[in-house]
Amino acid sequence: MYSFGQRKTPASWLIFIILLLQVLSTLLFSYVCDFRMPGTASSMPPPPPPTRKPEASNLTLLLWSWPFRARFPIRRCSELLGIPDCHITANRMWYPKADAVIFHHYDVSRSPRYLPRLPRLPSQRWIWFNLEPPTYTRNLHFMDNMFNLTMSYRRDSDIFTPYGWLDVLPAPRTVTIPPKSKLVAWAVSNWNPASHRVKYYQELKKYIQVDIYGYQNLPLPRKKHLTVLSQYKFYLAFENSVHEDYISEKLWKTALLAETVPVVCGPPRKNYERFLPPDAFIHINDFPTAQELALFLQELDWNSERYERYFQWRSQLTPVEHTPWSLHLCQACRALQIMNPARYQTVPALSKWFR
Ligand SMILES: *[C@@H]1O[C@H](CO)[C@@H](O)[C@H](O)[C@H]1NC(C)=O
Ligand SMILES: *[C@@H]1O[C@H](CO)[C@@H](O)[C@H](O)[C@H]1NC(C)=O
Repeated sequence: MYSFGQRKTPASWLIFIILLLQVLSTLLFSYVCDFRMPGTASSMPPPPPPTRKPEASNLTLLLWSWPFRARFPIRRCSELLGIPDCHITANRMWYPKADAVIFHHYDVSRSPRYLPRLPRLPSQRWIWFNLEPPTYTRNLHFMDNMFNLTMSYRRDSDIFTPYGWLDVLPAPRTVTIPPKSKLVAWAVSNWNPASHRVKYYQELKKYIQVDIYGYQNLPLPRKKHLTVLSQYKFYLAFENSVHEDYISEKLWKTALLAETVPVVCGPPRKNYERFLPPDAFIHINDFPTAQELALFLQELDWNSERYERYFQWRSQLTPVEHTPWSLHLCQACRALQIMNPARYQTVPALSKWFR
């Protein structure tokens, strides 16, 4: 009869030693694992979602087509925004590898045929890019459930690309107002007599002199833009259509760069105040009638102290109105660099949102 306790055979010693070694090695191994990879122990909280190290990533952004078919030089984002560079290309050979593909709405909106039907990488993001207002944005209906990110002038876009903004100056400065010899100017190319803005102008001009520049009116060569318009005290920054956040270069470039006081017609005053201090502009809705607006402008014309108050914000802020296409691409690059690459996101109803 075999008894384990009484007679220790060499075989039982061997089993004992093997068991002992196994226990020791398990202890040792788990210690090493714990030590080297603290995140993998089951008692630990789950690891944080992977974040991209901007300096290590070199994201490829494919511009599917040149906006309005006009080529432009693609600039480095390190120069434009001081961020790590993305590899930005308009060469469709990169489609299978691109981290994101940017589609400029106008150029793909004629028919669904203009969007690729190729399989996409599971991690690839399609970006819907548009700076035109909804009135001039057609065929949104076939864009639903296609894109992962929106990129537009709307503040609630995934990638916000406004026509301009205000930067805070590093130190306050003394404001100098260019000499003013004229009163109200408006430069307009798209003259639609039925539009709200033209009707408003027809009413306004009964009470105040308004000089019209542009098509079939006073000539305004591109190079003289600033010198001509800066002689005016006021500029009519009237948008062609009224939509949330749609504040175009008419305000940023034409009015603010020429250092005139913008008289705006567009979304409500509260919407403008998301972008500008309240005393940086005059809103037509501040007055019940065009006549009362005209009276107010004349009052400011006489009262230089009150007029100058519309320039006070410039002592601390400066408008940024130069927003070339290349800058918008870099804004997308920046957004992608800080975005969680593992996050699934789709835009189900573009046509419901963008209007
Ligand atoms: C980024 O990737 C592109 C395409 O792979 C390559 O041509 C470029 O040299 C890379 N840039 C850097 C800084 O790694
Ligand atoms: C992007 O959107 C498409 C279409 O809705 C979807 O199939 C895809 O999984 C999304 N990708 C990501 C990375 O969110």
